[in-house]
Amino acid sequence: MAADFTLSVVAPDRSVVEEQVTSVVAPGTEGYFGVMAGHVPLIAALKPGIVEYLDSHNQRHFIYAGGGFAEITPSHVTILADEAARAGDIDVSDAEKRLDEARSAAGADGFVEVCAVDQIPENRAVVVSLSGERVAVFRYDGNVSAISNVCRHQNGPLGEGRIIDGCVTCPWHGYQYLPGTGASPPPFTEKVPTYRTQVIDGKVLIHPCAHAPGTPIEPARIDQAERIQA
Ligand code: FES
Repeated sequence: MAADFTLSVVAPDRSVVEEQVTSVVAPGTEGYFGVMAGHVPLIAALKPGIVEYLDSHNQRHFIYAGGGFAEITPSHVTILADEAARAGDIDVSDAEKRLDEARSAAGADGFVEVCAVDQIPENRAVVVSLSGERVAVFRYDGNVSAISNVCRHQNGPLGEGRIIDGCVTCPWHGYQYLPGTGASPPPFTEKVPTYRTQVIDGKVLIHPCAHAPGTPIEPARIDQAERIQA
């Protein structure tokens, strides 16, 4: 019989699951991944999707998780979800209403307002969730660029890093990426997805469709008046 370990699924306002399980399958940003007892320690970013697990009586359960992170140790999986609900608890009409609200919040050209320019410190980022993906929105030298928040090395949170020598620098082990291309400077070859940005009336807008890792995107310029105000 497979060994047990503890699964905790936590939404911002409550604990959704806390029980002994024998396996978990979770929706990572790079695809679904499975966890058994004794897994190596790992932190993984999650996209919205279904977390499936087998309890210690071999019963299968399903949880909806609206993105977030999974922290994995040999004896525990903790999922910190942006939202979460057991499959039987999901209110379909409420979910459809929220989907409509999200669609109408997007502009006609698909760009979504995410923050004010002056909320982003110079050479730093704010992290936003778009279409279930975490996006790091950096401000530097009068520019705004957006790249995936997930470092290619070990999924470190790029949006918690700084721009050093012109490169986004991962706070975990120092991998670097150019903010306008999502590519590591030569001779390194790591690349992360990039996003189109706009700055209008002091607001930052992002298009939620990710471009292929390493795709150059022209940064949005912060105009002079906004730079003086900030
Ligand atoms: S996770 Fe290791 S450098 Fe980013």
